[in-house]
Formats: sequence, structure tokens, C-alpha cells
Amino acid sequence: MTDLLTVENLEVRYGSAVAVQRVALVVPQRGTVGLLGANGAGKSTVLKAIAGLVPKSAGRVLLEGRDVSAQDARQLVRAGIVYVPEGREIVPNLSVDENLVLGGFHLDGPTRRRRRDMVLGIFTEIADRAGSPAWRLSGGEQQMLAIGRALMAGPRLLLLDEPSLGLAPLLVRRVFEKLAVVRGETGLAMILVEQNFRLTVRVADTVHFMRGGRMLGRRDAADLRHPAAMEEAIAAYLGAGEAVT
Ligand SMILES: Nc1ncnc2c1ncn2[C@@H]1O[C@H](COP(=O)(O)OP(=O)(O)OP(=O)(O)O)[C@@H](O)[C@H]1O
Ligand SMILES: [Mg+2]
Repeated sequence: MTDLLTVENLEVRYGSAVAVQRVALVVPQRGTVGLLGANGAGKSTVLKAIAGLVPKSAGRVLLEGRDVSAQDARQLVRAGIVYVPEGREIVPNLSVDENLVLGGFHLDGPTRRRRRDMVLGIFTEIADRAGSPAWRLSGGEQQMLAIGRALMAGPRLLLLDEPSLGLAPLLVRRVFEKLAVVRGETGLAMILVEQNFRLTVRVADTVHFMRGGRMLGRRDAADLRHPAAMEEAIAAYLGAGEAVT
């Protein structure tokens, strides 16, 4: 089967500064690829470039073998590539429902209502609060809303940027349990950007390590679930100072 996403030789510059270079990765159909690295490694930049939110100075992005490098962010959302930003970026003064509607802006009414019911059926915590302003939600509930909003678009590939940021471990686990349900139902694939090593090796199939804008290596997540292998990978790829959380 053709891989869902292929990134070849990606380079992104901010002005004259090269933020990422020679990045390559593949997301198989229904796969979850983890992307680990310290602050400033270039992880968000890779996701944003795939989503068409920052320009690529070199490289290609293929969706099921079709070159989508020149498509803009809106076209890519329609093609099924949806980015969930770091720090969530939901609209605090809009209600939960209105935030969801924003995620399905391009859909016809019946499809939008069907998706909304699907999302609220999964994220039952926020279903009771559909009319409340988003700022009233807890951090974990806001993360669910951000992911729910992305799911409104009917993505084939979800680009999750540090979903665990600022969340208690219990809430992180709840968010990922919900995502597992969605994946079972829709066959969604994901790229998961994280600094949380344990979480990433638990949910991903393969893990890429980044430093200084480059890919350092790629490992099967299953091989990194033993404590000794985890320690070795952290030392090799993330530096001895990296906390294991
Ligand atoms: N809009 C921007 N303008 C200029 N430089 C930027 C911009 N966004 C990111 N950078 C730089 O690009 C590099 C990669 O940043 P990026 O946000 O991709 O890292 P990251 O791995 O997501 O880090 P973090 O874990 O802190 O979110 C950093 O050196 C950063 O300072
Ligand atoms: Mg980032």
C-alpha cells in the first residue's frame, strides 16, 4: 500500500536562518510517527511545513504519492492534513460548539452536524459544555476541544504539536485514550511531536529524533519501551540532561 505521507529533503528558513534541513520521514497508512527533540530542535517547524503554514525552501511533501508541496494550508486541510497547534489556540470567547464549527468551516451543514455529534460522542467531557465559552474549560478539556476541532475537518493525517504540554499525566492519558478510539473508528494516521519520551514510545510505531534542525535517527518504538533501551536512546539522541518523563 502507498504510504500516506512522504517528506523528502525538507528545508525551512526563517529569513536567513535555516530552521530545519534535510528532513525526511514517512507516515504509513494508519501509522503513528513520533518526533522527539529538545526546545528549538525544529519539531513544530516540520509540522507547520507539512501543513503548509510555513514556506518550504527545499524539499517535497507527497500525500499518497501525489506531490502536495505547492498547496496552501486550506487546500491541505481539504486534502486531509490538519495541524493541532502547540498551546492549543482555541478561541476562548467562542463557545465549545462555535470552536468546533470553525474546524469544519468548509463542510456542508449536514456533514458538519454529523462530525460535531461524532466529536462530542468521543469527547464526552466537553459535550455537556457545548454552550459554554471555551475559556471555562480545564487545560485537558481545552486540549480535547483543540483535537476535536481538528477532527471536524475529517483528517486523514493529524499533526499533533506537544499535546501533553502543561497537562497532568492523568489528563494526558485520557486525551490519548480518546485518540485511540478515533483511530480505531477512522483509521487516522498521526505525527506526534513531543518532548515526553515515555508517552511517545508508548503511542507511536516509529520515533524520529531531531536536534538542531536535523534528523538524528529513527527507531521502532517497540524497541525503546525497555528501560535500558530508553536510557540508551536518550543518551544517544537527546543528550544526558534530558529528563525522562
Ligand atoms: N517564526 C519564526 N521566526 C524566526 N525563527 C523561528 C520562528 N519559529 C521558529 N523559529 C526558530 O526555528 C528553530 C526551530 O523552532 P521550532 O519552533 O520548530 O522548534 P521546536 O522543536 O518546535 O521547539 P519547542 O519544543 O520549543 O516547541 C528555533 O531556532 C526557533 O528559534
Ligand atoms: Mg514546538
